[in-house]
Amino acid sequence: MSISPPILCNLPRVTIIGAGRVGSTLAQRIAEKNLADVVLLDIIAGMPQGLALDLMEARGLELHNRQIIGTNNYADTSGSQIVVITAGLPRRPGMSRDDLLKTNAKIVVEAAKNAIAHSPNAIFIVVTNPLDVMTYLAWQVTELPRSRIMGMAGVLDSARLEAFIALELGVLPADVKAMVLGSHGDLMVPLPRCATVNGVPVTELLDAATIERLAQRTRNGGAEIVELMQTGGAFFAPASATSVMVESILLNQSRLLPVAAYLQGEYGLTDLVIGVPCRLGCGGIESILELHLSDEETAALRISAASVRQNIDRAEEILGADK
Ligand code: NAI
Ligand code: 2OP
Repeated sequence: MSISPPILCNLPRVTIIGAGRVGSTLAQRIAEKNLADVVLLDIIAGMPQGLALDLMEARGLELHNRQIIGTNNYADTSGSQIVVITAGLPRRPGMSRDDLLKTNAKIVVEAAKNAIAHSPNAIFIVVTNPLDVMTYLAWQVTELPRSRIMGMAGVLDSARLEAFIALELGVLPADVKAMVLGSHGDLMVPLPRCATVNGVPVTELLDAATIERLAQRTRNGGAEIVELMQTGGAFFAPASATSVMVESILLNQSRLLPVAAYLQGEYGLTDLVIGVPCRLGCGGIESILELHLSDEETAALRISAASVRQNIDRAEEILGADK
């Protein structure tokens, strides 16, 4: 019998900060897709540990062998390849994403600082709202190159537009492809002219008024769910969207996805984070694609960017005042 020495495998590790609804569902998605071991961190004592144990007990049933660790201690997140920040308050009914700015800015800055100290080589994905501003603040405090820090919103917003188009046409959702750019909020910029059903432009399948109705439902997508649930926001689709980004990075898929990225002149925008089409691979954001936008789309992106800029300034004022 030949006995080989044990092989030490470097399994990828993803840390998720914030083990609430989005964070815990994301942990489940990552483990069940067999992508990586997961560390779930939260400030509530015992809560991430309980969730991790529950997920570990499902491993035999879900046929995977990934480790899920729950913790309240950043030391346990050491050496992560990816850090996802979902810590913070979700929106309550009647509350805008921007109302969350004050509380979540402090949480995200603290989480990003602690996480980078233990995983200096990680790629960061921010999910906490208001998304574009939180991603900017995390980029600032971590001082990471812009390829290694990004926000999740466009993948979710695009998935919502795709879902609404599929429902309207009665086609398979996976056959619909769409792209939504801009900030994550009422001023997002859906690009219906780029949407297709298996290559057929949606503009040939639906009239302009219907397309605009679906685009408007997409802009209101998060709020529609908050109004229905009354107890928090969406988390299944947000977790799926984040897991798609994690997958593209860990498996070096180079997928072209709408990602909230720090811009340095792309689309005529500088020193802010906003959703643009990016290639995502093992190094993080490999490139940003500059689409030829129509005058109307360019104007919408500029308005979206101006609102992000205003909120970044407000967040910096708040954080500066508390120093
Ligand atoms: P949740 O309330 O279920 O979970 C948030 C978790 O963060 C809680 O468990 C809380 O204890 C934890 N937390 C708070 N402060 C912390 C700290 N300092 N360190 C570690 N953990 C801390 O909320 P949910 O639904 O999971 O949403 C999380 C965030 O994601 C919200 O800001 C929400 O608006 C945002 N979101 C963003 C989306 C996007 O498309 N970018 C989509 C869905 C949600
Ligand atoms: C969403 O779009 C609330 O940002 C969150 O569902």
